[in-house]
Amino acid sequence: MVAWKNLDTLDSYQALQETKGSVKLTEVMAGESGAERVRKYAVPMAGGLSYHYAAKKVDDVILEKLAALAKEAQLCEKFEELYNGAVINLTENRHVLHHLCRGQLGKQVMADGVDKREFYKGEQDKIAAFANKVHAGEITNEKGEKFNTVVQIGIGGSDLGPRAIYLALENWAATHNTLKMEAKFISNVDPDDPVGVLRGVDVEHALFIVVSKSGTTLETLTNESFVKDALEKAGLDVSKHMLAVTSETSPMAKNSGYLAAFFMDDYIGGRYSTASAVGGAVLSLAFGPEVFASFLDGMAAEDKLSAGDDPMKNPAMLDALISVYERNVLGYPVTALLPYSQALSRFPAHLQQASMESNGKSVNRFGESMNYVTGEVIFGEPGTNGQHSFYQLLHQGTDIIPLQFIGFRKSQNEKDVEVKGSTSQTKLNANVAAQMVAFACGKTDENPAKCFAGDRPSSIIIGDQLTPEACGALLAHYENKFMYQGFLWNVNSFDQEGVQLGKVLANRVLDHNTDGALKEFAALFGI
Ligand code: F6P
Repeated sequence: MVAWKNLDTLDSYQALQETKGSVKLTEVMAGESGAERVRKYAVPMAGGLSYHYAAKKVDDVILEKLAALAKEAQLCEKFEELYNGAVINLTENRHVLHHLCRGQLGKQVMADGVDKREFYKGEQDKIAAFANKVHAGEITNEKGEKFNTVVQIGIGGSDLGPRAIYLALENWAATHNTLKMEAKFISNVDPDDPVGVLRGVDVEHALFIVVSKSGTTLETLTNESFVKDALEKAGLDVSKHMLAVTSETSPMAKNSGYLAAFFMDDYIGGRYSTASAVGGAVLSLAFGPEVFASFLDGMAAEDKLSAGDDPMKNPAMLDALISVYERNVLGYPVTALLPYSQALSRFPAHLQQASMESNGKSVNRFGESMNYVTGEVIFGEPGTNGQHSFYQLLHQGTDIIPLQFIGFRKSQNEKDVEVKGSTSQTKLNANVAAQMVAFACGKTDENPAKCFAGDRPSSIIIGDQLTPEACGALLAHYENKFMYQGFLWNVNSFDQEGVQLGKVLANRVLDHNTDGALKEFAALFGI
């Protein structure tokens, strides 16, 4: 029987408090001890990746206590409940089924009278058949010409994940001759977004996918109208250019004006929807269904590892445990996500939503207030660009910000140059290795301005190359990490009530139903 308890009621959490300050990276990461830690503190992941945590402020004693916490918090059992179809999202009375989009981890899950794995797989198959017809020129524009571009219209989870993964695999697909269509994305209700994107699109040869689970999101519906307008002005039949991805119960599902419609449902949270039709349609059209299937295979393989009960062999669980240790014992509220891979340029933006919308909660899953902090602020940029931007504060600022690096031995392209005896890829990776040691060990200097205190924790996920499988494994790792963090904090990671108030007030402004400060702020914009 699973017991959902607050973190501070667990004995193993109290035991962890005693370890605060017991590991000094400046000491343990120096010399042979540091080398030994790098060799020892690593765990394999799926997709050829591995998670390395030698430069985190843990040792065997702390890791043992974290394992005890995992056991007492019943992390493994909670995940098992989730993938076996329990109603984990209590506030919205919903199952949490995104794992079923990439595999069957446990029992058959029946909901709404159907087998949910079959349903998600069925939509994937429909998308694959559709994408193959588009690529083969069997589905064309009115002139019988092939489509060459796909434009996704959506926001939040209906934009960030698919966009991040498209960018992550675009170069890989081009190198492997499987970039079938260029993809673009429109999300912001700022008219400059659709105008800017449409400027670079030959609408006559473009398919537009309107993606909204609810079918009611103001930004998305507005941008849909914007695009329809552009199509009409170009003299094109809108219904020959527009697809929908939505839930079967949404208003969009009842609209017959789309060339095709693909479905997900309320059991797939927006920020967890990349594996569903939300990511499936655009990624299958852009790269071909086989590439999307490989990406899902990577996710499924990582999910399997994430279901294991030994945290030392379960990278997502271990990463979550260490991050909660950093947040609740060491008191660090921010995490920087630093991919040393240009392809992952939008990955931090996606993880911002996935983490912060999931775990930015002040009440536990039963609506009770808690006596500890939750959630983490995530930000990040690809290295080495970040090094020339905000790393100054990371190295010498007064706050300690834990770091999560991601790196790959090989780039996605064959092309590289050798300058001063090393390739660009080698330079990139030399930088990430150097940063980890610089953050951990620091440096003394007579000049205080040149001192580096060190003792700044970091971890790294390393892979051979950012392939579709590796990319899937990476995404699943983070999705599962955020889930485990939520279990530890005892919050509902699958609702997002915090986004509602702003939406309600924005609608009041649009309805001219304002008073007080709202009226005055609106007046500053001439509304
Ligand atoms: O406003 C937040 C949110 O509900 C996200 O959780 C979601 O990803 C996004 O809006 C878009 O929602 P939809 O897919 O229903 O348009």
